Amino acid sequence: MSLILGIESSCDETAAAVVESGRNMLSNVISSQIDTHTLYGGVVPEIASRKHMENITYVVREALLKADVKPDELDAVAVTAGPGLVGALLVGVSFAKAYAYGLGKPLVPVNHIYGHICANFIEHPDLKPPFMCLVVSGGHTHLVYVKDYGDIEVLGRTMDDAAGEAFDKVARVIGLGYPGGPKIDKKAHEGNPHAMEFPRGKVSGCEYDFSFSGLKSAVLNHINGLHMRGEEIPVADIAASFQESVVDSLVTRLMHAAITRGEKKIVIAGGVASNGRFRQRLKEECDAKGIELFAPSPILCTDNGAMIAAAGYYDFIKGKRADLKLNAYPNAML
Ligand code: KG4
Ligand code: ZN
Repeated sequence: MSLILGIESSCDETAAAVVESGRNMLSNVISSQIDTHTLYGGVVPEIASRKHMENITYVVREALLKADVKPDELDAVAVTAGPGLVGALLVGVSFAKAYAYGLGKPLVPVNHIYGHICANFIEHPDLKPPFMCLVVSGGHTHLVYVKDYGDIEVLGRTMDDAAGEAFDKVARVIGLGYPGGPKIDKKAHEGNPHAMEFPRGKVSGCEYDFSFSGLKSAVLNHINGLHMRGEEIPVADIAASFQESVVDSLVTRLMHAAITRGEKKIVIAGGVASNGRFRQRLKEECDAKGIELFAPSPILCTDNGAMIAAAGYYDFIKGKRADLKLNAYPNAML
């Protein structure tokens, strides 16, 4: 049994959690900065760093209190080292270095994208690699084959915007505000997903890569046309049609990858994995093809410390360690 403290500060959530042996979540404390960034229509990196500075000590303390674990009882401190916003990452990394050093405990650097995948181990005790996985968040869209813990083959990724980024940008132009994903998800229920047939971005020659910038332009052009003709913006129809296009692109490639590889398990992760229509479409397709679908509950889809503690555990038992030279790696690859 290993008790790991996970610390996450790569974007706009200051988060910490204690997880036992990568599976049993004892606490999961998230201090969200959404209300602050909403005022600016998106994440302001410098403000994010400052908020992490203010909150991190309290968040870590609460994570330990809620777990009823004393700092001395921890086996290791795991921290997101990248990718993410450099200033935001540096807060978590600096804190974790000092904390681990002070306690005399090992420090384990964790890749944020791998962390998202590992959120699934917490809620699905029987889930083990290999499996096909799609990580879809505000900063990443990665189609990967997880061969083993920490052994990941990247099959495809976005060539431009991440799926969540597209949700956020489109939400802004149709006046739904930040963060766009959950707002479009909700609004789309009132709209017709086939009111407009927006493009399904394809990357020629790369069957597993994604592209969302053409879709974003198509939505903008459509709105400009309506403005020029003095017509009303059908917000719900645009939200539903845009969402349908993104979901189509995601589901098609993910299913194609699983079927081509003969893989019977599909796992989804990241903020966009909490999208209702995405989960529904994927479930239908998986059921039709006899594929088992695993998804974290919404609170473990978006950024959290538990996923970092879970990923940190698997890295920890493989012997991965960082010394006090650990830095933040804003462009870290999976
Ligand atoms: O994983 P996450 O918390 O942060 C990153 O690592 O980027 O993901 C945040 C992203 C945002 O772009 C947000 O709009 C999107 O996930 N998101 C959603 C939904 N909930 C969050 N996108 C679509 N539908 C949702 N329900
Ligand atoms: Zn994330």
